[in-house]
Amino acid sequence: MAYKKLTAEEAASLIKNEDVIGFSGFTAAGCPKVVTMALAEKAEEEHAKRNPFKVGIYTGASTGDSIDGCLARVHAVKFRTPYQSSKDMRTELNNRDAHYFDLHLSELAQYLRYGFLPKPNWAILEVCDITDDGKIYLTSGVGIAPTVASLADRIIIELNRYHPKELAGIHDIYELADPPLRREIPVYAPGDRIGVPYIQVDPKKIVGVVETNLPNEVGAFTPSDEVTNQIGQNVAGFLSAEIKAGRIPAAFLPVQSGVGNVANAVLGAMGANKDIPPFEVYTEVIQDSVIQLMKEGNVKFASGCSLTLSTPALEEVYRNLPEFKPRLLLRPQEVSNNPEIARRLGLISINTALEADIFGNINSTHVLGTKMMNGIGGSGDFCRNAYLSIFTTPSTAKDGKISAIVPMVSHVDHSEHSVKILITEHGIADLRGKSPIQRAEEIINNCVDPIYKGLLREYLNLGQKGHTPQSMSAALSFHDTFNKTGDMRLVNWKV
Ligand code: COA
Repeated sequence: MAYKKLTAEEAASLIKNEDVIGFSGFTAAGCPKVVTMALAEKAEEEHAKRNPFKVGIYTGASTGDSIDGCLARVHAVKFRTPYQSSKDMRTELNNRDAHYFDLHLSELAQYLRYGFLPKPNWAILEVCDITDDGKIYLTSGVGIAPTVASLADRIIIELNRYHPKELAGIHDIYELADPPLRREIPVYAPGDRIGVPYIQVDPKKIVGVVETNLPNEVGAFTPSDEVTNQIGQNVAGFLSAEIKAGRIPAAFLPVQSGVGNVANAVLGAMGANKDIPPFEVYTEVIQDSVIQLMKEGNVKFASGCSLTLSTPALEEVYRNLPEFKPRLLLRPQEVSNNPEIARRLGLISINTALEADIFGNINSTHVLGTKMMNGIGGSGDFCRNAYLSIFTTPSTAKDGKISAIVPMVSHVDHSEHSVKILITEHGIADLRGKSPIQRAEEIINNCVDPIYKGLLREYLNLGQKGHTPQSMSAALSFHDTFNKTGDMRLVNWKV
């Protein structure tokens, strides 16, 4: 190998206070691991000497604990974008110890190229193989790797032997030209390949290679429960009725499915529904359920940005790579999440809301309006541009003390204009072609938990006459009451 071998500590020692780093990977899949752990130790030592030490971080999406967790715990993050799901990072952001800008995932690469955000000094990339002439073969996640590799002044490679070299070929690396030179992205079907299987970098930018042999830090999924199972059944039932009504082609359309436990349960239920034919997936995160459905013959092909699989599921894919590789494709996130492609392919997009309101607006990010949970992720990239945009949520949280359906969302990520269908464990609200008052009735009748129906109907009666019956004094009373009493069920509009 033509490159210098480095230890993680040697690599970390090159990174300076205020440097900006871009990482490969998407979720914990494909993220570097050991250099950031060493960097966190370096930050701690600098802080002990009372020296400032913080870095800016660009990633594809969330990361493993060795990036977000390790750096957040030692307060070494100056800014962070575009998505995270680490408890420690969340605390850091909500304490405003690090600045966070929540961004549609498809936009980050082009924002960096346009110069809207500080240029990365460093790219740290996890690879399964590298050639002496600078061809980089990524591991199980792509994210923004091609863009940070080309923009960064210097590159550190983590060569992770856990991922087989034979993974090379699963990636389709394609970088978009910037306006006014951009043309259409020639993806006309989920399986279309438009790029090359590697990232080409200038080998002179590579300062060294750190060798590792570590699995991804993807957490296990919580098994589905009664509520998530029922949401899954409702989604599958709705889609099968749409096929029968001729509103979804009989051959079906490609599916985008969001992150988390509800999304996993929804895909499982779709696979089990006999009326839904085997389908293709065009999404950002390929989760365990997709692999399971592939084995059962219910998913024909999956294009995504990462293999966000539990360790047993990823190892099964690696053991049977010749069988799986022709049916899997990993793309940079500006292609996997691109609005142009979502609209062209006619995606059925299914994402989870933290909170919805009776008029169909969605909050995906802010707990009770103030505390950042994870970020908007790809939900906006997809829902605005999908053939059919579905949001799911359990109707309540915190043992019923919180209604996930409220008079007015405490933060808006997706407006009523992008949301077509809302589904909870209680049922389905079809918002297409309905006025605000019709949407409110549909949601209250079909989706709200029985303990909150009366309160929400009372809210509608309080609303001022007009196109959208809002009450400016009571719109946030559910949240206000929870903040005061710890329970939304005690809402009293007259107070
Ligand atoms: N108000 C306050 N807290 C709420 C709430 C509400 N309306 N709804 C849920 N919560 C709490 C839950 O109680 C839980 O708290 P805990 O961590 O203390 O147990 C927490 O929020 C997470 O809820 P959970 O049901 O476990 O979440 P999930 O794993 O299904 O994820 C999102 C839901 C919304 C957080 C997640 O889907 C997300 O980050 N979405 C935005 C990005 C996105 O959609 N990406 C996909 C695009 S491809």
